[in-house]
Amino acid sequence: MAKIGTDIEFATEILNNSELVGIPTETVYGLAGNALNPKAVAEIFKVKDRPSFDPLILHTSSLERVPEFVHEIPSKAHELANHFWPGPLTMIFRKKEIIPYLVTSGLETIAVRIPNHPLTIKLLESIDFPLAAPSANPFGYVSPTNAEHVNEQLGEKIKYVLDGGDCHVGIESTIVEFENDEINVLRLGGCTVEDIEKIAGKVRLRQISSSNPVAPGMMSSHYSPFTPIIIGDIDEIITRNSDLKIGVLAFKNEFQNINKDHMFVLSEKGDLNEAATRLFTGLRYLDTLNLQLIVSEYVPDIGLGRAINDRLKRAEAKRN
Ligand code: TXA
Ligand code: MG
Repeated sequence: MAKIGTDIEFATEILNNSELVGIPTETVYGLAGNALNPKAVAEIFKVKDRPSFDPLILHTSSLERVPEFVHEIPSKAHELANHFWPGPLTMIFRKKEIIPYLVTSGLETIAVRIPNHPLTIKLLESIDFPLAAPSANPFGYVSPTNAEHVNEQLGEKIKYVLDGGDCHVGIESTIVEFENDEINVLRLGGCTVEDIEKIAGKVRLRQISSSNPVAPGMMSSHYSPFTPIIIGDIDEIITRNSDLKIGVLAFKNEFQNINKDHMFVLSEKGDLNEAATRLFTGLRYLDTLNLQLIVSEYVPDIGLGRAINDRLKRAEAKRN
């Protein structure tokens, strides 16, 4: 198993050695390596068992450093950066030569973000390269939101997980690209569309299919527990599947006829932020119970609810 702790010097040493470290961010934990070193980047793909056509996000510590890695930053990107960085927003730019194509899966563009976590910012300030970091889960599985989650699944393959506690957003970053003067949202996430639109005007949601290699993280099946999951009217699905051993991932209400231990409520007060922080923990918990089916329901489709519903939809798509 990996060591878990808060030793930034140890983490720095490992990264300087082209090896990988689990890092906390406000969204989910990342599996980080030197983004400028192809050997470290190749190791990320290997440890995650991630297909090489799925590009990685570059993490750095300040907006001032971004021009080292990318060509022009559109003015709307500056506005968004000023409001949301450090934070759960990833922006796509044209990459400079210094970024290996291995990071971008051969694309001329690179995804960049400044994570909002004091430990990881400190770490980024103590190294002289940016970190490539996908979510620290095996490809296709639910993202980790605490250090233990990382250790459970990747602990045999990495030396160290930097422990920054529970992720306070709990869902991956929102990814946007700029096209002329327009903003396309490629992945719904921790920065809400409503908040982006307040700063930068109307955005477009670019629906991306699994056959479009531009953003494979948008594949219709992703973020899945091993147990099959169905989203819809919970009571109705339970009745239809009364012969199965069922678990319920509910938004705010408990459901009758379900063993309390098999029920995970995202937010009793119906708070979407709280629900987002608990979503992946809930899926993981239910997935450990050897159930035949997980039943869940969509949450209100506003604010972070849109990203939650997006993840639920993708979790369902995989197994059905
Ligand atoms: O919150 C997050 O973004 C977390 C934390 C660790 O920062 N990271 C994360 O990385 O979710 P990952 O690898 O699980 O998802 C990154 C996704 C890719 O699947 C891909 O869809 C998209 O980012 N991406 C990366 N580079 C891209 C590019 N040049 N153009 C379009 N999409 C890109
Ligand atoms: Mg991921």
